[in-house]
Amino acid sequence: MKKPTVIVTGAGRGIGRGTAIALAESGCSVGLIDRDQEPLEAVAQELIGRGFTVAFAAADVTDRLGLAEVVRSIEAQIGPTGVLIACAGIGRLTQVPNLDIAGLEALLAVNVVGVVNSIEAVLPGMIERKSGHIVGVSSVAGYRGLPWMASYSASKAAISTFLEGIRPALKRRGVTITTACPGFVRTDLTSKTPFRKPVPMMEPAEAGRRIARAALRRSRNAVFPFSTALGMAFLKYVPDSVFDWMMDRAGPRGLTTDF
Ligand SMILES: NC(=O)c1ccc[n+]([C@@H]2O[C@H](COP(=O)([O-])OP(=O)(O)OC[C@H]3O[C@@H](n4cnc5c(N)ncnc54)[C@H](OP(=O)(O)O)[C@@H]3O)[C@@H](O)[C@H]2O)c1
Repeated sequence: MKKPTVIVTGAGRGIGRGTAIALAESGCSVGLIDRDQEPLEAVAQELIGRGFTVAFAAADVTDRLGLAEVVRSIEAQIGPTGVLIACAGIGRLTQVPNLDIAGLEALLAVNVVGVVNSIEAVLPGMIERKSGHIVGVSSVAGYRGLPWMASYSASKAAISTFLEGIRPALKRRGVTITTACPGFVRTDLTSKTPFRKPVPMMEPAEAGRRIARAALRRSRNAVFPFSTALGMAFLKYVPDSVFDWMMDRAGPRGLTTDF
């Protein structure tokens, strides 16, 4: 069966890069978007050198019109988008009493509005063709408010519930959605977290393979690794008093900084 054309945002680094490579290896034509030209070009050249069909262009996902234009130019080169992987995202710690409002605004702009801008850019075409699949990269951090990343958790809870909310209306129009919730993955985003002890992390290539598989299968959810999925499912439903006690222990004892 012919593999779909895929657009990946945040494709220059980390999980987005891993997903783009995995999708190219599985036979998809890939359109790569990231805000930084240099890593974007590096991954594009690597894939082109291996004989894969690739188009790429720099865009900031918070720039709604600029992003739409870049999507149009990529589609003109490699064809209409069958699958979107909205992976561009940022992370920040939240520490009390400085609530870092600017950080919160940036997280919401990229992790929530940026994902929706990306969906908006491909959606009219998918609806017209009555076919398409969207992967929004959220996080298990959105399951509950993690105290040292309150703003990040809030942004991921917001995008997870947004994706859930549009799912039925899109399905009626032939477009399906995967909400991807990775656990810890070794990328620039997690390298800035001041963990006291090394934390087991998945490699971005493996995370990319899991997201690519979920995208091609059109799974409703992709939560991984299994241990994190299980742990977070438990955490989601424990009583608030138990959750607070656990987070109080996990925070100051787990990080080199207080929150
Ligand atoms: N790493 C984890 O443990 C983990 C776990 C769960 C979910 N996630 C999610 O997975 C996604 C990818 O994260 P990652 O860990 O792979 O981080 P990463 O290595 O920092 O990669 C993110 C990529 O997105 C780009 N980007 C950021 N803001 C952008 C914008 N406004 N417009 C276009 N591109 C932008 C980044 O560019 P710059 O380098 O210029 O910022 C970077 O190339 C994020 O949504 C993140 O929240 C990560």
